[in-house]
Amino acid sequence: METLDRFIEDVTNLVGRIDDEHEITREVSALLSRLLAGGYRLPPEVTRPSKDRHVTYPLYIAPDDSWSLASVVWNMGQRTPVHGHEMWGVVGVYSGAEQEVRYVKPLPSETGRALTPAGEQVWERGQVTVCCTTDDDVHAVVAIGDEPTIGIHVYGGNIGTMSRRSYDPATGAVHWFVSGWDSPVAD
Ligand SMILES: [Fe+2]
Repeated sequence: METLDRFIEDVTNLVGRIDDEHEITREVSALLSRLLAGGYRLPPEVTRPSKDRHVTYPLYIAPDDSWSLASVVWNMGQRTPVHGHEMWGVVGVYSGAEQEVRYVKPLPSETGRALTPAGEQVWERGQVTVCCTTDDDVHAVVAIGDEPTIGIHVYGGNIGTMSRRSYDPATGAVHWFVSGWDSPVAD
């Protein structure tokens, strides 16, 4: 059985040795696929949905903020705004399913124009996707299906404290936000 400690050690080594975001995300995807296929189980306190909005629980934050690992939980039907990450990211579906709606990341010169859709895809349990590189990181996520959606997310920075963009896709208007981290919920 794959363990989270081993996964954290492996990702720490990758992040220390590789600079290229495309190479890191390819390697992290392979590790995350192996973790999910190996029957890893999250602690229950980081799997609980909130009735108000999707929640992001920390699983690991590198001491130098070079990367972070999160359990992200949506209750049925919850959705994110259209948002960016400003860093690389890899997402694995731990349970449930999500619909990802992608957009082309606007260039600075395109600010104030409607976003260009870049396709939609459904991701199901056990699947892993590269959600982001710094130049291609804009999407919205909708929890679909009849059980909460839980993802294990790996990011190339501290995703809870980093300032990042959300977008109005109709106008291209940008709003900067910091998502924060949610506290695990014991019984
Ligand atoms: Fe996202």
